[in-house]
Amino acid sequence: MYTSRIAGMGKFVPDNVVTNDDLAEMMDTNDAWIQERTGIKERRHILKEDDNTTATMGVKAATIALERAGVDKNDVDLIVFATLSPDYYFPGCGVQVQDLMGIHTCPALDVRNQCSGFIYGLSVADQFIKTGMYKNILVIGSENHSGGLDFTTRGRSVSVIFGDGAGAALLTRSEKSGHGILSTHLHSEGQHALELSLKGPSTEYWVPAIMKDDPQEDIPYFPYMNGQFVFKNAVTRFSEVIMEGLQANQMQVSDIDMLIPHQANLRISQFIQKKFQLSDDQVYNNIQRYGNTTAASIPIALTEAWEEGKIKEGDRVVLAAFGSGFTWGSAIIKW
Ligand code: UT7
Repeated sequence: MYTSRIAGMGKFVPDNVVTNDDLAEMMDTNDAWIQERTGIKERRHILKEDDNTTATMGVKAATIALERAGVDKNDVDLIVFATLSPDYYFPGCGVQVQDLMGIHTCPALDVRNQCSGFIYGLSVADQFIKTGMYKNILVIGSENHSGGLDFTTRGRSVSVIFGDGAGAALLTRSEKSGHGILSTHLHSEGQHALELSLKGPSTEYWVPAIMKDDPQEDIPYFPYMNGQFVFKNAVTRFSEVIMEGLQANQMQVSDIDMLIPHQANLRISQFIQKKFQLSDDQVYNNIQRYGNTTAASIPIALTEAWEEGKIKEGDRVVLAAFGSGFTWGSAIIKW
């Protein structure tokens, strides 16, 4: 029986720092509101003049993950790419990464599960490794949010939250049981699909609709979020899916060495921390510096926690996410 373990992690964020005060110059918002409601102090935005895209940021993070894993790019058996902001409508970013990194003709799969995308990707990779089909799988989460947000006052409830960046993990086969990815737990509830959504461009909202920019009407080409409804569902589903993961492994809350929640809102992380009575050392947050980077948020946070020496061999690490779909999931890892 094979297990999968994370052999290397990497992250990349654009250099361009956008503070809350910078946003206040573009729209009616302020640093106090953003920090109080979300915990965010700043985020990174791609600059038009640099070469960063969702795919190229993914390549930068993946290159570091491969180096740290000591795995050659030609030994990658599968690329899994999670994003809600691909460079193109089609094809997906997975094949772009393959081309940009010069990886041989292995399969490349794109995952469209938004904030839960990295956990879904990790789960898919874990199953392929456990069955023995593949040995080395690159799982990438990357987002270019800033290219598609409404930076006028009309879009302020969404646009102040999101940031750009990428994270990646190289999963490899292991024959040692009881470590690596112990289990993953995935859920979705499609009845709330439009509560956090971007309707166009799409086959329903095609070019004529996106060319019509009437601020009085529903604008289908900027993201919509029913913030309070999403928030309420997030705290419930985060709690459930963390408990589901712990129970599947006969673990208690006190067994968690490090919880990495998807960085949606610092208040959500703090709610979970308080509910589970976890100390500050047991929960990693970096939304203050990057905002919500959707599919990239967990791999960026996991990479940073590891780089800062906060995750050591033998630690029990819990990843949990909730977001658009609604989709949610957790992963229980013995590092
Ligand atoms: O990652 C995917 C999952 N996402 C989440 O889990 C996000 C969940 N939701 C949230 O994090 C919060 O709902 C938000 C941060 C999005 C919003 O916070 P809130 O405390 O729910 O605020 P609200 O939407 O109820 O808005 C309160 C007020 C409104 O004004 P009125 O109607 O009370 O006069 C908004 O118009 O704040 C106003 N507002 C702002 N004011 C200044 C909304 N956005 C802003 C802004 N700056 N950027």
